[in-house]
Amino acid sequence: MKTFQTYLDTVNQAIAAIPYPEQPSQLYEPIAYHMALGGKRVRPVLVLMACDALGGEEDIALDAALGVEMFHNFTLLHDDVMDNADVRRGKPTVHRRWNSNTAILSGDTMLTLATQFIARTGNKAVMDLFNKTAIEIYEGQQWDMDFEDRNDVTVDEYINMIRLKTSVLLGCALKTGALLADGTEEDCDTLYEAGVNMGLAFQLQDDLLDVWGDPKTFGKEIGGDIMNNKKTFLLINAMRLATGDDADELRHWLNDPYTTRDDKVPAVTALYERLGVRQLAQDVIAEYNARAVESFNRVKISDEDKQAFIDLANRLAGRSK
Ligand code: IPE
Ligand code: IPE
Ligand code: MG
Ligand code: MG
Ligand code: MG
Repeated sequence: MKTFQTYLDTVNQAIAAIPYPEQPSQLYEPIAYHMALGGKRVRPVLVLMACDALGGEEDIALDAALGVEMFHNFTLLHDDVMDNADVRRGKPTVHRRWNSNTAILSGDTMLTLATQFIARTGNKAVMDLFNKTAIEIYEGQQWDMDFEDRNDVTVDEYINMIRLKTSVLLGCALKTGALLADGTEEDCDTLYEAGVNMGLAFQLQDDLLDVWGDPKTFGKEIGGDIMNNKKTFLLINAMRLATGDDADELRHWLNDPYTTRDDKVPAVTALYERLGVRQLAQDVIAEYNARAVESFNRVKISDEDKQAFIDLANRLAGRSK
């Protein structure tokens, strides 16, 4: 297996070479803008790694990798409208730099471009998996929005929500690479399982960084989840553990529509710290990461290739961006 950086270079070169029509520029410029902002490119690299580990050809896998990354970026354009987010990858979000209509329509176009990339593989199992995954992500995003207005969300409901909105795409990326390499059903499914567990740790870490990340490194504004009353693992546990004055204060921040960012974010963060929910989240991240490692260890590939996946999982579980 090659290094992460080598796959990343391949992906970035291919993304830079995607041709977009010139007109209407209001449609295509935001797509080119967002795709050029970078990001970690975790999902397309996972496609290439899985394909390579199982002995497949990189050319076809690269089409799928581009499809998965284009799709991911489409979800971000719409997600930033839904979450009212101003900054992504250290730059203004599309709906802020242009407007919401642009984010919607350029996003729609990206979804179709993504589907075209996936279709280029000519692999029915890959196309079916992609479409199934896309719908699961929309379901997850809807739960995420529904939960903003509910105060009785359980940890199980939260885990199911992040499995849908985030984890299945990492599973899909790995299984897509495996399918394109003609992997055994068992290896395809084990890689999918590894991706889902990795994705759960990944989203939990994203939630942590939304509170304690460094905005310069993380590339997003801190406290967005707190402002939106997102039912993250942190908030669900804080609501469960808070008693007395802490419980009253938390209720106040959740219910007062007139609070400002400068008041609410530091106050809720301080509550999280008092209640010890950061450590709880870190423990669960370690648990899901261990499950991912266990799955990677069961795939029938060389020890060296297993280690490459495991190193990546460990790195992502402790990431700061
Ligand atoms: C952001 O995904 C959305 C989540 C699922 C947390 P990434 O953290 O992979 O974002 P980029 O692509 O690296 O910017
Ligand atoms: C995003 O979850 C999941 C999808 C985009 C499908 P978040 O809303 O936590 O992602 P960020 O933090 O905006 O990247
Ligand atoms: Mg969101
Ligand atoms: Mg968001
Ligand atoms: Mg987030």
